[in-house]
Amino acid sequence: MAEGQFVKVATVGEVSPGDMKPVEVGEDQILLCNVDGQVYAIDDICTHSYASLSEGDLDGDEVICPLHGALFSVVTGAVITPPADEPLRTFEVRVDGDDILVGPEKPPAEPKEAEEE
Ligand code: FES
Repeated sequence: MAEGQFVKVATVGEVSPGDMKPVEVGEDQILLCNVDGQVYAIDDICTHSYASLSEGDLDGDEVICPLHGALFSVVTGAVITPPADEPLRTFEVRVDGDDILVGPEKPPAEPKEAEEE
């Protein structure tokens, strides 16, 4: 997608709190996650191997990969539990009326609590 552009990907009613919805934006496969009414957008494809996180489970603000069980923060994209060791990309999200729009990739978040493995 073009720099700074927001694209409508879904409506609010399609992603209830606790739900996830995979969407495509250009060539990116993106996963919308509704955490207590706040919608986040992350990569849908696990950074470990090839699995769609939309087929995993959303638990609070964490998503678990269906293939080998890596756990990611949907807020920061950070890996919480291996085997993945690369964070997911996160994307800007805007809600405009009933529309959910996804925008550019966010800069990587600094881990608040750096945990050495
Ligand atoms: S593909 Fe996701 S943990 Fe292996």
